[in-house]
Amino acid sequence: MTLPAVTPVDTTPISAAAAHDDLDPLWRAIVAESRSRQNDIHLPISFAFAERLCQAHPEADSLVVRVAILLHDTGWARVDQDRIISEGFAGDWRRADVRYEHERHGCDIAREVLPPLGYDDAFITRVTDIIDGHDTRQESRSIEDSLVRDADRLWRFTPTGIALASQWFGFTPSHYCSRLHAEIMPELLTDAAVQMATAELDRAELLLKIEQLS
Ligand SMILES: [Fe+2]
Ligand SMILES: [Fe+2]
Repeated sequence: MTLPAVTPVDTTPISAAAAHDDLDPLWRAIVAESRSRQNDIHLPISFAFAERLCQAHPEADSLVVRVAILLHDTGWARVDQDRIISEGFAGDWRRADVRYEHERHGCDIAREVLPPLGYDDAFITRVTDIIDGHDTRQESRSIEDSLVRDADRLWRFTPTGIALASQWFGFTPSHYCSRLHAEIMPELLTDAAVQMATAELDRAELLLKIEQLS
């Protein structure tokens, strides 16, 4: 069962999300890491979803959620780039060694970039506790962890996410959309994320003519 939202959920197109600039220095600190595995597309879109999830869950510490989603996949930049495709998207990809490696590297990057920006050790530990295991640990350990996990999945329901992920996995857009319905939607932990995913996927399937191009 999913966690109910505390306040009304914004399901309008994520492309119209309001922008906050308080984390601009942190974005600028990870430009190099953003060039790996399309992080420069995935991270901003998932970040926008995370901000909306925080609005639906004001009980969560939004700064922890926003910083954790911003940094969670930066570690891909320190993994052998060829193995991202050969191991990260094929076979038993959820258990591939590169997945564990990108989580560990992501924690290292958080410990490097956050102290110069004034974040203290206790805060950084809360962020790395979420980054560590975000793909490989089965269970969520806090509301902040749950919102990061849902934001990490939600970007895939947008036309941009469908375009990139279907290419990564070698699927047609229509086959990838059927996987979103069958596999990714049931993994969402909050009702707010389910509402956002449903609205985004409805719009994306219409736009991309998924029914006609199946
Ligand atoms: Fe990841
Ligand atoms: Fe991710």
